Amino acid sequence: MAERNTNTWLDTPDPQVFIKNSAKFNDLMMMYRCTVREVRTKLEVLNDEFSLEYKRNPISFIKTRIKKPESIYKKLKKLGYEFTAENIQNDVAGIRVVCAFIDDIYTIADLITRQDDITVIQVKDYIKNPKPNGYRSYHMIVEIPVFFSKGKTPMRAEIQIRTNGMDFWATLEHQLRYKQNIEEMDGYEDVSNELLNCARAVIDMDNEMQRIKNKIGQFHDI
Ligand code: GTP
Ligand code: MG
Repeated sequence: MAERNTNTWLDTPDPQVFIKNSAKFNDLMMMYRCTVREVRTKLEVLNDEFSLEYKRNPISFIKTRIKKPESIYKKLKKLGYEFTAENIQNDVAGIRVVCAFIDDIYTIADLITRQDDITVIQVKDYIKNPKPNGYRSYHMIVEIPVFFSKGKTPMRAEIQIRTNGMDFWATLEHQLRYKQNIEEMDGYEDVSNELLNCARAVIDMDNEMQRIKNKIGQFHDI
C-alpha cells in the first residue's frame, strides 16, 4: 500500500493560516466581482441612453472576467512581486467593451471619464499607438467607490474598449499565441508577420467603416 504523503498542501502551512488566508482572498474576489458589476451597469446605462437618442447601439457587447487565482499567482511570480492586495489591484477586475465604430470607443471612454465618481488611474491608447505585433485597443484603469456593509471602498478595474474588428483579431491572436507556444516553433517570424498583416487588414476595414459612417452622417437623420 502506498505510504500516506503527509507533506501535502492540506497539511502545510498551518490549516488555521490557510483557512484565514483563503477567506481573505475569497472576500477580495467578491469585492472585485461587485466592482465589475458596477462598471458594467455604468456602461449599460450609457448604451441604453445612446440607443434611444441615436437609434443605434455604440456598444455591441460587454464581456467581464475576474482573473483566476492561478493567473494572478503566475504574473506576480514572473515579475517577482509579493502577493499583496496592492500588487494585484489593477489586474483582477476586467471589463471588455466591444464597440461598433472607432469613434464609439472614444465616445464611451470620454463619457466614462466624465463621471465624477470615477477616477482614471491610467490610459494606454493602443489604437493611436498599436503594439508592434498589431494589437489595438483602448485600455483604462479606473477606480470607483463600491459600497459594502463595512463602508465605501475604492476599487480598481481595467476597461478594454475596442471595435468588433480589433476584438476579432485579438481573440484569435491570443488563441494562437498563448495556447500553442508559437514562439518556439520554426518559422515563428513568418507567423508574426502574417498576424501583423491580418491586423493591418482589420485596421483598413475599421477605418473604411468609420469613413462610410461619417459620410452617411448620424444614422437617425436617414
Ligand atoms: P498584463 O496585465 O500582464 O497583460 O500587463 P500590462 O497591464 O502592462 O499590459 P497591457 O495594459 O498592455 O495589456 C493588458 C491586457 O491587454 C492583456 O491582459 C490582454 O488582455 C490585452 N493585450 C495586451 N497585449 C495584447 C496582445 O498582443 N494580444 C492580445 N490578444 N491581447 C493583448
Ligand atoms: Mg494589466
